[in-house]
Amino acid sequence: MTASGNDAAFPAARPRRLRRGPALRRLVAETRVLPRNLVLPMFVKEGITEPVAISSMPGQVQHTRDSLRKAAHEAAAAGVGGLMLFGIPAHKDERGSGADDPDGIVQAALRDLAAEVGDDLVVMADLCLCEYTSHGHCGPLETGGHVDNDLTLERYASVAAAQAEAGAAVVAPSGMMDGQVAAIRAGLDRAGFGQVPILAYAAKYASSFYGPFREAAEGAPQFGDRSGYQQDPANVREALREVALDVAEGADMVMVKPGLAYLDIVAKVAEASPVPVSAYQVSGEYAMIEAAAERGWIDRERAIVETLTSYRRAGAEQVLTYWATEAALLLR
Ligand code: PBG
Repeated sequence: MTASGNDAAFPAARPRRLRRGPALRRLVAETRVLPRNLVLPMFVKEGITEPVAISSMPGQVQHTRDSLRKAAHEAAAAGVGGLMLFGIPAHKDERGSGADDPDGIVQAALRDLAAEVGDDLVVMADLCLCEYTSHGHCGPLETGGHVDNDLTLERYASVAAAQAEAGAAVVAPSGMMDGQVAAIRAGLDRAGFGQVPILAYAAKYASSFYGPFREAAEGAPQFGDRSGYQQDPANVREALREVALDVAEGADMVMVKPGLAYLDIVAKVAEASPVPVSAYQVSGEYAMIEAAAERGWIDRERAIVETLTSYRRAGAEQVLTYWATEAALLLR
């Protein structure tokens, strides 16, 4: 008896029998979203005294160190599994010096979070340079404007060590440079952080759905776009290759990003990957649902739970979502 056809036919087969009432539906549900599967991305900005609202992401803010700590405690109390921290420095330069400054905003905030909620959830640091470079690209440039891959690797290794030193429990490289996982692994090991895992943004597409994030993290490229390093939405095989390369370089977990328009990729990566798979419900996905809900065109809470369920159904163990705290409370 399989779904492909040897099943009994109507009237013996009546799939609706199992849909009669919430208790039965709950009993036979194949997929569950648990609060501990959720990871909350957060932004912390240097030099502000009040949180700053992000207009394209209603309900989300750029945090002060204090408001970040408060929101992290709320996430921990709701049972959220992890945090993903992004920093916005007061000063940017060509090489993104703020990213590995031991006194930089991310390192300061990581120290706060590791001390206060580090036992309750997993404090992760996004590892990229686009929020720190004056040109908004994910690494230093070569003449001609392309990101210099191998020079960027040296920077990433240094950033990883600074983040681990500040208390990051996991570092998550998102810049899509070739060899970044190997370089970061070596950098961490050299600095004595052999136990710090790497969550590799392995299959990251050049996506329109990052639009609101670029306001949130103030990391929009000042010229050009990221298609020189992020993947083409047309490609599947390339994603599987990126995942295999990252795993071979030492990735402990891999991520697919964005999620909703790439659930086929999530499913294929989940099937092929020997390590846990995360998926990122990105800023544009958040903004679409918030905007439609605000107009009364969609039931916001149902849409949140339904989309998170679709990620888990596709095979992601962890889902990064800006709704993590609220969803964790809804799901309890
Ligand atoms: C930085 C980075 C981006 C996101 C996460 N890390 C932006 C980008 O690549 O342009 C997007 C997250 C989101 O849209 O929610 N490399």
